[in-house]
Formats: sequence, C-alpha cells, structure tokens
Amino acid sequence: MVTAFAVACAGTRRAPDPYLSDAHFRRAALVASLVNTANGYSQLRISHYDTGDAEDWSRLPEWNPRVEGVRAGELDTPEGAKAEAPLGAGARPVAIDAAALDGDEASLVALGEEAFFRYPVQTSLSAETATVSRDTFARYGFWIDEKRGAGGLVRAETANGDRIFAYTCATCHSAYRGGKLVIGVGNDLLNLGRLAVDAAASPDSIAAARWLDWGPGRVDVSTSEGLEPVRIADVRPTRWLTHLHADATVAVRDRTALAIRLETLIVTSHHQLVRPPRIIALGLAAYLASLASELPTVPPQTEVELHGANVFHENCASCHVPPAFTGAPVPLHVVGTNSYIGLSPDRGTGTYRVPSLRGVATRGPLLHDASLPGLDAMFDPARTTSTYEGGRLGPGAVSGHPYGLRLREAERLALTAYLQTL
Ligand code: HEC
Ligand code: HEC
Repeated sequence: MVTAFAVACAGTRRAPDPYLSDAHFRRAALVASLVNTANGYSQLRISHYDTGDAEDWSRLPEWNPRVEGVRAGELDTPEGAKAEAPLGAGARPVAIDAAALDGDEASLVALGEEAFFRYPVQTSLSAETATVSRDTFARYGFWIDEKRGAGGLVRAETANGDRIFAYTCATCHSAYRGGKLVIGVGNDLLNLGRLAVDAAASPDSIAAARWLDWGPGRVDVSTSEGLEPVRIADVRPTRWLTHLHADATVAVRDRTALAIRLETLIVTSHHQLVRPPRIIALGLAAYLASLASELPTVPPQTEVELHGANVFHENCASCHVPPAFTGAPVPLHVVGTNSYIGLSPDRGTGTYRVPSLRGVATRGPLLHDASLPGLDAMFDPARTTSTYEGGRLGPGAVSGHPYGLRLREAERLALTAYLQTL
C-alpha cells in the first residue's frame, strides 16, 4: 500500500519547502504529477507552469486581497447581502506569518485553515441572486453556519477598490451531515448550475440546459463549456490518495503535487490573470492532509460488521486496499461506470480513480458522476435494470461497478454495515 504523503505532527518544523523557492523543483514536480500529458488539463499546465518564458504563470501578479466573510445575519436584512457593501473592520488578506514560511507545520496548517474559509477561489457574479434571504440562499444549497458564516462566501476587494463576491474552498467542500457542518465533505446540495441559469438575464437555452443538467452536488471545474460536471469531491481522505480527481488526472507522490494542483486551480479559475501566494497553496495542502484525522477509526465490532469485513476482503480489497481503502486507478472498461468523463480529451486518462472508502457513509452521493444517492442504492441489485428509479440523474439503469451486486441479501447487509464503520 502506498500512502500518498505523511502528515507531520503539530509542533514539527521542516526545512522551508523548496516548492516555495525553487522553480526547477516545481516544474519537475508538476511534470511528474501529470498522468496523461496529452489531455487538456496537462497541456495547459505544461505550457505555463514554471516554463521560464513569457507565458509563465509565475509572472502573474500575486493576489491576496482584503476579504471579509459574508455573515449569516446579512441574509436577514431587507436587501439581503450585497457584493458592493463596504468592507467591515475585520476585512484583511489571508494572514501570512513568518513561522509558516519558515517551515513550522502547525502555523502552516492554521494558515491553510484560514485560507480554506477566506481565500477567494472563484469570483461570482451570480451569487447575489442567492443572497437575497436565508430561504433563497438555502434553495441553491449554500450552507449557513452562525460561526463559519454564509456558505463560505466572501466579499473581496478588487485592484480598483470594487467589491465582488467569491466562493472559497468551503463553499463546495463543506456540508451539513446530521445537523453538523462537516468540513471537507462535498456539498451535495450546492446547485451552481441552477444559480447560473436564474442569475442570467436571458440565458441562451443551450447553455441553460447544460447548467441545469449539473443538478445539486455536481460542478464542472475543469472545462469552460460546462459539459463535464462531476461530483464535488469529499476531500477528507486526501492524505491517503495516490491520485486526485475522479479520472485520476494528477498523481500525488507528495504534498508538492497537491499544492501545485491547488495553485493551478486558483490560476485557472481566475482566468489566468492572477496567482495565489504559494504559501497559501502549500498551507491549503497541509490543512487538507490534516482533515483525515477527523475521520474516526471505529473497528468493526458487531457480528454483522465483522461478517461484512470478511465479505469486503473477499470482494473489494483488491482495489480498495486497506487501510486507506483506495488503490491503483482502474481502466474504464473494467469498472464499467459511465465512461464520458474518463474519455474526455480535456481531462481523461482512460481510468477512474478508486475512491477511498474512509468516511463513505457520510459522503453523500456516490460515483464520479454522483449518480447514486448512497450505499443502499450502490449495492441494490435492481440498479442495473432499465426500470430502476433510484438514480439521482433520472430513471433508468445505473450500470457498472458490478462488485457486490450478486451477494446474498445477508452478505449485502453485512457489507453495508461494515462500510458504515469506515
Ligand atoms: C466551485 C466548487 C469548488 C471549489 C470552490 C473548490 N473545489 Fe475542489 N473540487 C470541486 C470538484 C467538483 C472536484 C472534483 C473534481 C474531479 O473529480 O475531477 C474537486 C476536487 C478537489 C480535490 C481533489 C480531491 C479528489 O478526491 O480527487 C481537492 C484536493 C480539492 N478539490 C481541493 C479544493 C481546495 C483546497 C479548494 C480551495 C482552494 C477547492 N477545492 C475549491 C469543486 C470545488
Ligand atoms: C476492480 C476494482 C474494484 C473493485 C473490485 C471494487 N471497486 Fe469499488 N470502486 C472502484 C472504482 C474505480 C470506483 C469509482 C467508480 C466511478 O466513480 O465511476 C469505485 C467506487 C466505489 C464506491 C463509491 C465511492 C464514492 O466515493 O463514490 C463504493 C462505495 C465502492 N466502490 C465500494 C466497493 C465495494 C464494497 C466493493 C466490493 C463489493 C468494491 N467497491 C469493489 C473500483 C473497485
């Protein structure tokens, strides 16, 4: 079993990371992380990431503007929360402290946590359509938390002093589970496609159909056409992954590869006009790695769970290899789920990544396209029949991943009981 990268304990100090200072090191790490150098995702990065030429993204200005989290209470005012409202006294850029730059792990993780909730990852002109009231806000699936604010939405100051709304990592990668805001889990209610349609004065009908097709919990963060929505990832198991993205576009040997993935996400979501300070990308990578510690390890205890563990070891563990319950990417024709994303010239690799099953019971919708609502549907033998009605994307068969579908009833129930413990 390959663990992606180790997590340092609080209080440890590493040598300052060469990712922060060494362009050759970064370029080599980027190239090594790209699984299929021919796809659009890889080509764009190969052309711009620490190339040393005029098109090098390193030449872009660093952006760490003054921001302020939108407060839940703003949604209760008669006019709702407005992007152009003046910034309050608490507005400031993500704080970059010297200890984090110096390699102090605890400071780096703290910086990453702050950035997860405050760094403006993607500016949004449509958010104001949602910030009219708590009801409208919730209708588009934004979470509301008295302490963490409104949907991870921030007000950011632009270079010319205007204010705009922007989404943070937390907008997409946090959601309520059992009455509690769980950080890192994909926001299965977030419906940015619906919001885009409602915010457009007169959306062209083809674009509108595409956006509405996303549905809640799915976003296209990879292409400009919006034709490739995938499930918003559960980033809690990131520490253990050897590959990122449903289609295993990025191999993560170490934290640098993850930091580069985040840095380049921010560059592309800002239309290649600005880049984040690298310490923010590194802090985010360190923080994401720390989230795995929030996943409880409860060993299977009841007879049913222990039986399920055996079923799992016989049928599943070759791909979902314990203790991380992930493994080498699987060719599309083997796993047999919808191959559209896996064949995409923009991002595909001809494989799907094996998701870690740690935390799977609280993950929300399953499979790369979020086509199934949860574990019961996943192992329902009826799901591959044409009369199936339990899929999230509409009636009809949800085919592929046939593993576990031929088990006897008692084994199947034991298996799902065991999966709840992971
Ligand atoms: C607009 C919603 C959105 C925002 C904002 C967003 N993400 Fe994501 N993120 C996604 C989606 C969708 C995926 C799944 C992509 C895929 O599988 O191809 C994803 C995937 C990831 C992955 C890969 C996880 C995996 O299992 O493969 C990581 C890590 C990640 N995001 C971290 C972040 C961080 C950190 C931020 C903030 C800097 C962020 N994301 C901002 C939607 C978002
Ligand atoms: C041949 C390798 C392989 C085997 C065997 C296998 N899986 Fe998977 N599993 C995958 C891949 C690949 C995916 C992702 C498919 C996709 O997203 O389209 C997946 C997805 C899943 C998911 C959805 C997780 C998520 O986050 O969406 C669950 C749950 C799961 N597998 C459980 C099991 C169980 C339980 C077994 C045994 C009964 C099993 N798998 C056997 C490769 C395998």
